[in-house]
Amino acid sequence: MSTKDVYILAIESSCDDTSAAVLQNGKVLSNVVANQKIHEAYGGVVPELASRAHQQNIVPVVHQALTIANIDKKQLTAIAFTRGPGLMGSLLVGTSFAKSLSLGLNIPLIEVNHMQAHILAHFIEDEAQSIPKFPFLGMTISGGHTQIVLVKDHFDMEVIGETLDDAVGEAYDKSGKILGLTYPAGPIIDKLAREGNPKAFPFPKPKAPGLNFSFSGLKTAILYFVQKQVKENPNFIEENLVDICASIQYTIVNIIIDKLKKASKETGIKTIAIGGGVSANSAIRKALKDGEQKYGWTAHIPKFAYTTDNAAMIGIVGYLKYLQEDFVDASISASSRIKI
Ligand code: KG4
Ligand code: ZN
Repeated sequence: MSTKDVYILAIESSCDDTSAAVLQNGKVLSNVVANQKIHEAYGGVVPELASRAHQQNIVPVVHQALTIANIDKKQLTAIAFTRGPGLMGSLLVGTSFAKSLSLGLNIPLIEVNHMQAHILAHFIEDEAQSIPKFPFLGMTISGGHTQIVLVKDHFDMEVIGETLDDAVGEAYDKSGKILGLTYPAGPIIDKLAREGNPKAFPFPKPKAPGLNFSFSGLKTAILYFVQKQVKENPNFIEENLVDICASIQYTIVNIIIDKLKKASKETGIKTIAIGGGVSANSAIRKALKDGEQKYGWTAHIPKFAYTTDNAAMIGIVGYLKYLQEDFVDASISASSRIKI
């Protein structure tokens, strides 16, 4: 351990994953994520249950992150935590924990915007990913957000397009619910889609102005389509599941790539970095890579561990803010709706 080394403990609790990570400068020493299985039975995240599960998980998860990193809490330089956006009851658990620990250890406290973190996850030093050059287009695709962000510098970001209704992850999860799949359905649809014909069932592409998105119409179109088919053939879903999934995935990927093409054309920026849970999607990752050949893009695709909610991405923002001495005091409170 060099005296100049910065050790950040990062805490993420914005939705239904309790996560803690330890970073040594820009590198991840540990990144522990406790998923909450309890929501599966309800087909979506139940805020009250999420908050309670965070309270149960936070101490063991932080303990495990420190143990894996082989760091004693006395060696920590600063604590970073997700301030928002997210579910209030969930955010409060991580925020309170981070505040008390920073007070107890008498070390700086750093607040992190969850959506900025999904983009800045690309700045984690890791062989499995590359660091984008400014300016670039950041695309955050998750269960709660769908945004195209013009990233001029680490903390100089501007949202230039976003969803007007459902997020892309919601489109996946709600489509999955219609098909009787468990929550979260995104990864299941992704897996099943690989076996199916993407052009089996053409779904309409919703029209949203400019660089914005709209996914609620797609969900309704899928619902009506499935209801109609099931009336004629009660086994329609089972018999066509892989083709339905492939068709949904094909439509969603086209919507995303079309908007990215438009954003790239309008801004003249060809460096694109995706982030958020849906950036784990195999078809989106492939389409983005293909964009390097087709449209001259430089595509930055995050390591899987840094796509869905995780504390490592909070830690890298913590480290970047630490270098700028951008600290907060214990009067800070969680904020469920903060913007990028
Ligand atoms: O970023 P995240 O972990 O949590 C939010 O901040 O929302 O994203 C979770 C979302 C869920 O909607 C989940 O279905 C989706 O990411 N997701 C996927 C895949 N893996 C996770 N969607 C499509 N394909 C995947 N492989
Ligand atoms: Zn997220």
